[in-house]
Amino acid sequence: MTLTWLRAHLVPHIWVLNLTHSVHNDEPLKSDQTTHNPGSPVLTTTWSTHGVDIYAVGSPYAFDVADTLSRLGITARSVDNLGGADERLPGLCTPEQVSPMPFALGLSSSTGRMAAAARAITDGWREAIALVDPTAAVSERATVGHGAYANAGVVVSAYAELGCFVSVNRSSSIGHDCVLEFGVGTGPGVVLAGGVHVGVGAFIGAGAVILPGVRVGQGATVGAGAVVTKDVAAWTTVVGNPARPLATKDPANEQQGCPLCLTP
Ligand SMILES: CC(C)(COP(=O)(O)OP(=O)(O)OC[C@H]1O[C@@H](n2cnc3c(N)ncnc32)[C@H](O)[C@@H]1OP(=O)(O)O)[C@@H](O)C(=O)NCCC(=O)NCCS
Repeated sequence: MTLTWLRAHLVPHIWVLNLTHSVHNDEPLKSDQTTHNPGSPVLTTTWSTHGVDIYAVGSPYAFDVADTLSRLGITARSVDNLGGADERLPGLCTPEQVSPMPFALGLSSSTGRMAAAARAITDGWREAIALVDPTAAVSERATVGHGAYANAGVVVSAYAELGCFVSVNRSSSIGHDCVLEFGVGTGPGVVLAGGVHVGVGAFIGAGAVILPGVRVGQGATVGAGAVVTKDVAAWTTVVGNPARPLATKDPANEQQGCPLCLTP
């Protein structure tokens, strides 16, 4: 018996990845990947493995990723490139001890995920999987970039786009036609109404609500519980109901986009 568990359309639509796996851990994962734009950079075309690495396991969020993999019947190995990882993580190892397998990231913060994505590729982990928890409901009309993660209870509506290395935390709702660009992170229980656009590396705090069509700029932070009724400028933190600016941040460490997409 096989279970179709992942269908990822890489933003900006370079690949379509259809992955199937056996419910038995001793049978390999298999994937088929189709190039939609032959002129665009494509990292690999096929892979087959017995497991998935959780790379950058420096926070308890790694347990969420491990639990998702467990629910999918996939063996997880936790790669501690940061040091000091929780010893209870499955298959704990260092990058020097193992050969890379396809990977997902174990961090939830936007800045952490963007940095970890770059580091993973530098360290030889070059096959980032899009990971969708089996309790999540992701529309077949939605697109999911590689390295993106939809945690337990997440709902993603039609024509929404989860960009590369996005993380949507537990029980969040992403409305139709939303766009979450590279490295965006959410806390648990976030609600994005239809047509919300969230720029590269922005973070949406737990329980925040963003009203239809609002644009959240690159590197911005929406505080926990905020109700965002108007556009949020880049590198700005907003809090409250209705959300108001609290602070601005230094954009010095601006990242341009997914390191896999940018790799020639
Ligand atoms: C908005 C946020 C980033 C601000 O963090 P910060 O820069 O360290 O701000 P501080 O804690 O110093 O608070 C500054 C002021 O903003 C207020 N404030 C902070 N967060 C707030 C929030 N979410 N809503 C309303 N007010 C908030 C504080 O009460 C404080 O007010 P005061 O100056 O009158 O005392 C942070 O509080 C937050 O909400 N982060 C999201 C966390 C989250 O959801 N994580 C997901 C967990 S998985």
